Amino acid sequence: MSSQLNSVIPVENTSPEIEKYEGIFHKDVIEGLNTFPKKLYSKYFYDPIGDRLFQDIMHMPEYYLTDCELEIFRTKTSELMDFITSDESDFDLIELGAGDALKSIHLLTYLSANNIPYTYMPIDISGNILAVLGDTLQREIPTLDIVPLEGEYFEMLDQAMKISQRRKVVLFLGGNIGNMNMDEAQLFCAEIRRKLNSGDIIIIGFDLKKNPQTVLSAYNDKTGITSAFNINLLNRINRELEGNFDTQYFQHYQSYDPISGACRSFLVSLTNQQVHIKGKSIFFKENELIDMEISQKYAPEEIQRMASLAGFQLLANIEDSKGWFVDSVWRVS
Ligand code: TRP
Repeated sequence: MSSQLNSVIPVENTSPEIEKYEGIFHKDVIEGLNTFPKKLYSKYFYDPIGDRLFQDIMHMPEYYLTDCELEIFRTKTSELMDFITSDESDFDLIELGAGDALKSIHLLTYLSANNIPYTYMPIDISGNILAVLGDTLQREIPTLDIVPLEGEYFEMLDQAMKISQRRKVVLFLGGNIGNMNMDEAQLFCAEIRRKLNSGDIIIIGFDLKKNPQTVLSAYNDKTGITSAFNINLLNRINRELEGNFDTQYFQHYQSYDPISGACRSFLVSLTNQQVHIKGKSIFFKENELIDMEISQKYAPEEIQRMASLAGFQLLANIEDSKGWFVDSVWRVS
């Protein structure tokens, strides 16, 4: 999922679908705030205001992730193509959470320019985003064969396996795998492995462990954009779920543990306070935390281990010039 674009955009009318979405959002919020430690799901960051704030994050000088991976897709395109086409048969190129295909478009263009026969299958939970992406790609690469799949990753991957017998190349880019902890990521990779066949390939973007100050600065900017991004989720609950968070009594706190590689966003309650959300009330003690997001960083050895445990052979770690980010190429072994 290109995380910044995967929200369902709320509109004024109340179709059954939107009511259902609001119902799930409400349930997740109430459940999350009633567990210990309190937790909110980062997928809800991305309402229209959150999307804009995430664009601002991507433009911050400290936030290196997008630039690093874009550099890989711009400058190491032929290397990527060689791995994908070493088996010369036709294939489906499936992108999990395609979003605006900012990075993958460089690979798509290159493959098409080299007359490689393939079908592009972008998967996203937002049909809206897939429609926009379809238009863009039609313009940029008129010859591209594209089959958009709207829905959850695993369900749509099953769908893709049913639609065609061709071998599969799966892209899972961005910080996406990083937004799971290592155990969740391991299970995720094993689940994907179960769905694929021998010889299929997956390319996953991993942010690497590096100077801890560099990591922390990317998530703890002095201008307060990351803080605003976190606080916006409380405002979104106020707007959409009749909440009454007083956001001046919540403070963003970021931590990075360079040993485990976990970079975490929290909100801290600055006082004892009661918050109401659609009739339910939640109590926050002074200094109580809300766990907002994990961004897991990896050592190359940890990537290697994850690939092997999930049943893949690691073919290559393709790095940016700073050595801060890798796109790791795995084949079903
Ligand atoms: N999840 C993305 C990442 O790990 C985007 C992001 C950047 C983010 N800063 C954040 C998410 C702060 C939550 C909180 O890079």
